[in-house]
Amino acid sequence: MLFFLDTAELDEVKALVETGMVDGITTNPSLAASSGIPFSQLISQMCEIVDGPVSAEVTALDAPTMITQGRQLAKISKNVTIKVPLTVEGLKACKILAAEDIMVNVTLCFSATQALWAAKVGATFISPFIGRLDDISQPGMQLIQDIRIIYDNYGYSTAILAASIRHPIHVLEAAKAGADVATMPPKVLRQLYKHPLTDNGLDSFLKDWEQSGLAI
Ligand code: E4P
Repeated sequence: MLFFLDTAELDEVKALVETGMVDGITTNPSLAASSGIPFSQLISQMCEIVDGPVSAEVTALDAPTMITQGRQLAKISKNVTIKVPLTVEGLKACKILAAEDIMVNVTLCFSATQALWAAKVGATFISPFIGRLDDISQPGMQLIQDIRIIYDNYGYSTAILAASIRHPIHVLEAAKAGADVATMPPKVLRQLYKHPLTDNGLDSFLKDWEQSGLAI
């Protein structure tokens, strides 16, 4: 399973890339707006830090302008993945950009039939938003499970990118459901390794070691 960071905070990206756990980045217009950095500069800097895909979202609503924006952003680096919304215009743009060998992440997916359509137009990634479905009392994880079954039934290569992840249990359940990627805020990535029993165990091992007078 690949781990992407869902953030526009460059310092966080730099710090977490060093752990070897970051396989890519996703951004969205809200995250990018909060960074205060010009958009193409932000994406370019992220591509320098991370080896894997860096999602940059278009802001147009019509396919021709989405395609123009997508082509422009794709020139920044081969890592750039163009993020388009799951609208008819977004899907039209996806088909054209994918045919030009540009990676496309179809975002704001809330149903399995939407995901089926994205796969049919050649999306590289489909982003089902688990947390936002949970927020409205619909089981977000069920969507990942349904998409997995559908993609496997027909051999679609579109990668399932579990998005809108809010806590480690989302990551655990998405992994069990067969999501290819999980994108998460830096805080959640850190929570994945943290365990109080690890910290307590290490404390007591080192206390005993210190008292023994042994050395390596
Ligand atoms: C994914 O690409 C989105 O940027 C993100 O996961 C949205 O998460 P949120 O619902 O917590 O804003």
